[in-house]
Amino acid sequence: MPTNALLKIDDKEISYPVITGSEGEKAIDARNLRKDTGYLFYDQGYGNTGSCESCITYLDGDNGILRHRGYPIEQLAEQSEFVETAYLVIYGELPSPEQRKRFGTMLRENAAIDTQMMRIFEGFPRGAPPMGMLTSIVSSLAAYYPHLATNNFEKDLENFDLTAAMAISKIRTIVAGIYRYRHGLPFNYPKDVPFCDNFLHLMFSEPYKEYAAIPEVTRALNLILLLHADHEQNCSTSTVRMVGSSGANLFTSLAAGICALSGPLHGGANTAVMQMLQAIHDEGDDGTRFIAAAKSGSKANRLMGFGHAVYRNYDPRARIIGHACDVVLNKLGKTDPLLDIAKRLEHSALNDDYFLSRKLYPNVDFYSGIIMRALGIPTELFTTMFAIGRSPGWIANWKEVASNPKGRIYRPRQVYVGPVKRDYVLIGKRG
Ligand code: CMC
Repeated sequence: MPTNALLKIDDKEISYPVITGSEGEKAIDARNLRKDTGYLFYDQGYGNTGSCESCITYLDGDNGILRHRGYPIEQLAEQSEFVETAYLVIYGELPSPEQRKRFGTMLRENAAIDTQMMRIFEGFPRGAPPMGMLTSIVSSLAAYYPHLATNNFEKDLENFDLTAAMAISKIRTIVAGIYRYRHGLPFNYPKDVPFCDNFLHLMFSEPYKEYAAIPEVTRALNLILLLHADHEQNCSTSTVRMVGSSGANLFTSLAAGICALSGPLHGGANTAVMQMLQAIHDEGDDGTRFIAAAKSGSKANRLMGFGHAVYRNYDPRARIIGHACDVVLNKLGKTDPLLDIAKRLEHSALNDDYFLSRKLYPNVDFYSGIIMRALGIPTELFTTMFAIGRSPGWIANWKEVASNPKGRIYRPRQVYVGPVKRDYVLIGKRG
């Protein structure tokens, strides 16, 4: 294994150390390149840039491998549940019974939204996009709890256990509140029940009809959230790290992550998938039109739920959710024509040279909406569900940034290609 890489440029030869990760991933530590040579590495979109060292998640996109803190996602999906995996992602180890109890208690004790904060909801139009509401309301946490969100790493880390539990629990409560508000329904107050059951209660309990927990529904919700718990340096997580690197507190950094998640190429894809499947259903098409349009190369027409910036193989999460769709629908005694359409679409795409040659496979968003729909969660809320699930990953990444004494502010460079120096001359007359 080489320990150095030699770079030859402008008759200069410079040696840079090679870093090797615990799974054998190799990187060239060329942080001094500009200082040594005056050159930058150009890497649009950072697709080949290791922006940090991290102990949280290992992802091998070529072989479809995903592990959190060393544990394969398949084993976590089979044997763990969301809150336990959240603890693992945030703290690095599976919780002992005492730690699990304490974490669960903190989640329950911090589930409610401040009554004054509830009024923020009323400032939004009823039809406001849920992700827009979620970013604003989550960022307001920094204003409601300024003593916990001081923008001073040392102080904020002293309160980390509390702010982490508050963030996960309140994001869940806020999402349910957004649903209730948009539908003109009264808010429900959190109950002293497990995390997922509490979400379903917050969403679906009515004044004279409490939501009665259904084990299959709770299990399916646990699975969906768990499968979103973390995913290495994706767009929203890198955003959280970037914002956090400026010294920003956890709540503010999370709000930025939620903004990044909202785009259709990232978390917004789960909503776009359902819209696509519904359109195929409504048109009575077999998906040919969407596949043909996706092959045009236009970003606007991509096959949603397909492809991934890192996976060149089946996304392991998509495989788990794809299998779970049949099981969940079966257990709930439901059928969904969109599931058949999705399966046919996957089959057509995976037999098409365009997708095969580019190694485009279903990703986590392709089947997740079918399960959420079966649980009664409306499509408009799908990306906010992704945000609940991803909150542990964002929190763990913020913590890595905040607790790294050698961390620098994230500040990439650019290759400037705009106009060269020119002198100011007034155009026309000032009005
Ligand atoms: N449909 C059609 N063509 C595609 C798609 C797609 N879904 N995805 C990629 N391509 C094409 C792309 O245009 C490029 O073609 P060419 O080589 O002819 O220029 C080629 O495949 C390689 O693209 P890439 O470099 O693998 O893609 P990327 O890294 O730029 O983008 C992506 C990754 C996820 C944004 C993209 O695959 C996409 O837009 N997918 C649809 C949206 C989606 O499902 N997003 C959810 C991602 S998973 C959840 C999450 O973590 O956010």
